[in-house]
Amino acid sequence: MQLIKAKDISHSFDYELFKNIDFELNSSGSIAIIGKSGSGKSTLLHILSSFLKPKSGSVVLLGKDIAKLNESEIDEMRRFDLGMIFQFHHLFKGMKAKENIEISSMLSNTKVDEKIMKLLEIDSLMEQKTSELSGGQQQRISIARVLAKKPKIIFADEPTGNLDKETAALVMKALKDYIKEENAGLILVTHDKDVASMCDEVYELENQKLSQIR
Ligand SMILES: Nc1ncnc2c1ncn2[C@@H]1O[C@H](COP(=O)(O)OP(=O)(O)OP(=O)(O)O)[C@@H](O)[C@H]1O
Ligand SMILES: [Mg+2]
Repeated sequence: MQLIKAKDISHSFDYELFKNIDFELNSSGSIAIIGKSGSGKSTLLHILSSFLKPKSGSVVLLGKDIAKLNESEIDEMRRFDLGMIFQFHHLFKGMKAKENIEISSMLSNTKVDEKIMKLLEIDSLMEQKTSELSGGQQQRISIARVLAKKPKIIFADEPTGNLDKETAALVMKALKDYIKEENAGLILVTHDKDVASMCDEVYELENQKLSQIR
């Protein structure tokens, strides 16, 4: 199934950031986007995930042209189908790790899969307050929180930004296992060539264009 089909996307702020970008993602597929700082990767991710309207072009998510959806239809899609992993996560600091994850599954009517905690090696952290965890531990909790809602598409902006090589590989394995099992898709932005190489395809955003390099 086609999860994302974007056609002829252009965007500018006070200058043209990128133009005529086409992009597709299918079930069980993973795509990495690399590119220099400031090339527009995060902006493109926001456009593909419905959070930013492009200057021109169309984005079809799960068969629906998002420009044609009303606000409640978009909200519903974001709540049940789209999973956003940000570099700077927004965990509830006063709550336990476990509670952060449970809230997410409750809001999306899913059941927490304990296997994910094991895969991410955070199962022993569940009773701790997130404010008492390290940056990398918090990042993995925030990834578990996104997986707990069972999204069909995962959008990740530098999901391994705070992690050492070994932990980054562990996160990539958890994400890839998830998309295979759930027939979901993954698009991630990264500076890390090793992380990019763990995806099925790699694209580079450069000189306003997105080109496939692998
Ligand atoms: N809301 C905004 N208003 C004006 N300019 C913006 C806005 N968001 C981003 N930009 C500009 O667009 C360019 C691309 O930003 P973006 O965050 O997409 O880059 P990036 O490739 O993700 O960079 P990094 O690797 O540093 O995260 C930057 O020059 C930035 O200043
Ligand atoms: Mg960015």
